Amino acid sequence: MSPTPKPGILDIAPYVGGRGDVPGVAKVFKLSSNESALGPSPKAIEAFKAASTGIDVYPEGSASALREAIAEMYGLDAARIVCGNGSDELLHMLANIYLQPGDEVLYSEHAFLVYKIVALASSAVPVVVPEPGLKVDVDRMLAAVTKKTRIVYLANPNNPTGTYLPHDEVRRLHAGLPRDTLLVIDAAYAEYVRRNDYETGIEMVSTFPNVVMTRTFSKIYALAGLRVGWAYCPAPVADALNRIRGPFNVSVPAQRTAVAALKDRAHVEASFAHNEKWRGWLSDSIRKTGLRVDDSVGNFILIHFPASGPHTVDKADKFLTSRGIILRPVAAYGLPNCLRLTVGPEEGNRLAVQALSDFMATS
Ligand SMILES: Cc1ncc(COP(=O)(O)O)c(C=O)c1O
Repeated sequence: MSPTPKPGILDIAPYVGGRGDVPGVAKVFKLSSNESALGPSPKAIEAFKAASTGIDVYPEGSASALREAIAEMYGLDAARIVCGNGSDELLHMLANIYLQPGDEVLYSEHAFLVYKIVALASSAVPVVVPEPGLKVDVDRMLAAVTKKTRIVYLANPNNPTGTYLPHDEVRRLHAGLPRDTLLVIDAAYAEYVRRNDYETGIEMVSTFPNVVMTRTFSKIYALAGLRVGWAYCPAPVADALNRIRGPFNVSVPAQRTAVAALKDRAHVEASFAHNEKWRGWLSDSIRKTGLRVDDSVGNFILIHFPASGPHTVDKADKFLTSRGIILRPVAAYGLPNCLRLTVGPEEGNRLAVQALSDFMATS
């Protein structure tokens, strides 16, 4: 008899990332993984190259230089920051720490797929809350809370819908949770949002003992391939994370490169401005082809296709792919008629709109 994984593991559908190449097509624009259009800061690339001299030595395990840099940037307590091998790792570790078999994990219908994976990986029960209007519904979330609810994962903004919950709604959600239920605010796209009614979660972590915020260097900092994320936590949560995290979970190049990326504010500004400009342009231009595009605050947009007829999502995906434009099918997120398009470089954006417009002109 072979070893048996614990309950839940074999119920996990392995995560499928965005495709990156198209056989036979020379020039491809990968607009499928919400990576940054401008790429990393040149200073980050320099730091990465320079870090090659340090790879024979184990990293400083707590990533203190990076934590100090983050703390200084956001005015936080470095002791309450924990860095991870991408924010995914932190989402996993939190589940690992707080979930017992049979506990419930709450998240909304079209939320980031990793929440289901981490719940099942801890033999917990995923509880999916309907999301009419593709926006987290706080009343429905609260109605689904039971005595067994141990973690609520909230992506704010959410991937792939691009919608966000205003801070008073996030606070209302928190206020309705039992005090021993952890609210994890996954703010992977926070740097793209500048709205008066948006809060990343920092203030709530500072105020409440049961709120954690996770962030990433994969999006606006464009270091997805390096794998760096961080969590801002109440002190006891940081303590628990530090007990279970791999002792050297963030590599030497990852730590040094992330510090350099964080400090290059001009590059972050340029990436933000590029995203604002092209997200608006893409949304408007694609709407003109007759397709529905939802308002998004992230670095991606969600495009809806008719369920039948000549312009279905599968046909669109094939058409676009043949032109080297790779978008992300999001059926696994409960959105079988949508494709998600990541804001890309100007050339990719223009080609994507041209291809969609040509596709809509086919019959
Ligand atoms: C909402 C959300 N959270 C977390 C992540 C994971 O980011 P990381 O690369 O830091 O693991 C992603 C990546 O797509 C995301 O969309």
